[in-house]
Amino acid sequence: MSNSQVQIFDTTLRDGEQVPGCKLNTEQKLVIAHQLDELGVDIIEAGFPVSSPGDFKSVEEIAKVVKHATVCGLSRSVKNDIKVAAEALQKAKNPRIHTGIGTSDSHIKYKFKSSQEKILEWAAEAVKYAKSFVEDVEFYAEDAGRTDNEYLARVCEAAIKAGATVLNIPDTTGYCLPHEYGEKIKYLKENVKGIDKAILSCHCHNDLGLATANSIEGVINGARQIECTINGIGERAGNTALEEVVMILKQHPYLKLDTNIKTEMLYGISQLVSDSMGIYTQPNKAIVGANAFAHSSGIHQDGVIKKRETYEIINPKDVGVTESAIVLTARSGRAALAYRAKKIGYDLTKLQLDEVYANFLAYADRKKEIEDNDIHEIIETSKVYKEIESHS
Ligand code: KIV
Ligand code: ZN
Repeated sequence: MSNSQVQIFDTTLRDGEQVPGCKLNTEQKLVIAHQLDELGVDIIEAGFPVSSPGDFKSVEEIAKVVKHATVCGLSRSVKNDIKVAAEALQKAKNPRIHTGIGTSDSHIKYKFKSSQEKILEWAAEAVKYAKSFVEDVEFYAEDAGRTDNEYLARVCEAAIKAGATVLNIPDTTGYCLPHEYGEKIKYLKENVKGIDKAILSCHCHNDLGLATANSIEGVINGARQIECTINGIGERAGNTALEEVVMILKQHPYLKLDTNIKTEMLYGISQLVSDSMGIYTQPNKAIVGANAFAHSSGIHQDGVIKKRETYEIINPKDVGVTESAIVLTARSGRAALAYRAKKIGYDLTKLQLDEVYANFLAYADRKKEIEDNDIHEIIETSKVYKEIESHS
């Protein structure tokens, strides 16, 4: 793997599926896993095999059919979890066990009623045990975002010594600011013995709306894997959105960080996940929302019609959206109306447009959005219609 390559670890089927009401059956998971593999993700976290027989079966079936990506199963640092994950992954071409434990003071004190030293031993034992089943073992330090950096570095060192190939640094509660998360990754890069033997991974939650920014700071500071979900779905306010981090890296080539993602598939897979899970994507969602390439104010529409790049930094085709939309509302200008009218067969002169536009505004003040059938009606009831008709 070149040093500019960022691995995309998709956890839609594990962290994403933890969302209340988003449960998928094995068939649905297989369809999504297949699309993720086609999309070019490097790792698919297929589930948490010990959590239920259904999840075990899903991981097992996904492991059998995925052609390119590594298939990963989650476990706690519990022997039985690890063993069951290994069983579910038996048929995978490239299996990975993802095991770990909480490392923040709050997790150690309240969840485990334990001590830093005990947790350190526990982490190393879990990695060693996972390593007895598979070569590729990822270790997560849960709540790393609120874990003291010095202690976190010791945990990472112990995990590497025990054989971890990837170190996941989750901001489990979405608490970190981007510069703090970036500094954490940099600190680990500079202070963990043997760090070159492992890949650092960002796993950021979105409680403060910072998941994407934190993941990007993470890779700028040396992480080479991002854990993310389609549409950013996941626990509480969600995970890092795959489509966002991928497009940020693509649109900022000077960062010299690439992914293997076929970006033209992003819109389609977003719709697939949204439909399968019955979870609606907000219209203003970056990259894949219904309004991500829609322009409704007159000033913007005029610019986009003249040159798309005036108000768009992404070519919609690059993410699988056919074209930008010029939405007609009472805030739209003449340029937008003429553009949409032309699309449905009316080539208006300047004078004709003046009259049609006045009628359009009166209509648009009564109706939120003007559709093609409304444009027909507005034009056909205008005084200039006879003239327009004879020329079209
Ligand atoms: O958010 C988190 O800490 C997790 C771990 C289980 C990796 O999802
Ligand atoms: Zn998570």
